[in-house]
Amino acid sequence: MHADFPALNVVHHPLVQHKLTWLRHADTNTDVFRSLLREVSQLLAYEATRDLPTEPMAIQTPVAPMESPVISGKKLCIVSILRAGNGMLDGVLSVVPLARVGHIGLYRDHATLQPVEYYLKLPADIAERQVIVVDPMLATGNSAVAAIDRIKAAGCGQIKLLSLLAAPEGVATLQAHHPEVPIFTAALDSHLNEHGYIVPGLGDAGDRIYGTV
Ligand code: URA
Repeated sequence: MHADFPALNVVHHPLVQHKLTWLRHADTNTDVFRSLLREVSQLLAYEATRDLPTEPMAIQTPVAPMESPVISGKKLCIVSILRAGNGMLDGVLSVVPLARVGHIGLYRDHATLQPVEYYLKLPADIAERQVIVVDPMLATGNSAVAAIDRIKAAGCGQIKLLSLLAAPEGVATLQAHHPEVPIFTAALDSHLNEHGYIVPGLGDAGDRIYGTV
């Protein structure tokens, strides 16, 4: 836990940090970037699902009967903030393959840095699910706040955010609006620059995933 940001969980695992370095590297191409983002997303999802409740199930191994744990409680829904969130989706789904998936289309108005919604598709039963929102960059925090506002309006109470990188400004904004939402990230970077980019960051995550620079 971070002293200023009680909701923030930075995953310091060496595998995550190694992959993050290559994601940051300006010479990493889109193919490698996508693979690494998928791998880091798996590892972040592993951490974010650490507290899922389990219940014992009676099974028979080839040797003996036993009671063995299986995941219980609310089912999951992953909500991707388009478009960069989709770069994390496959990795998260590889860890929780039965989760439903929702999409929220938000783009950042470059003048105001405020999110503008252009698409929303959530599972009909999302209110009965625990939600994991995925967006690689928690920058201003405005998109994450808007997405979580929407998800709460759909009736969800249990929400987590998975971001590859976070800026202090974004964490503070998210915490101010949704203090109970835990954030899982690979690094808390220094600050946002005048264009709203995370420093040192990795550039525009969507452009790096899709090669649209
Ligand atoms: N979105 C990005 O893709 N990169 C940043 O640094 C900030 C927001």
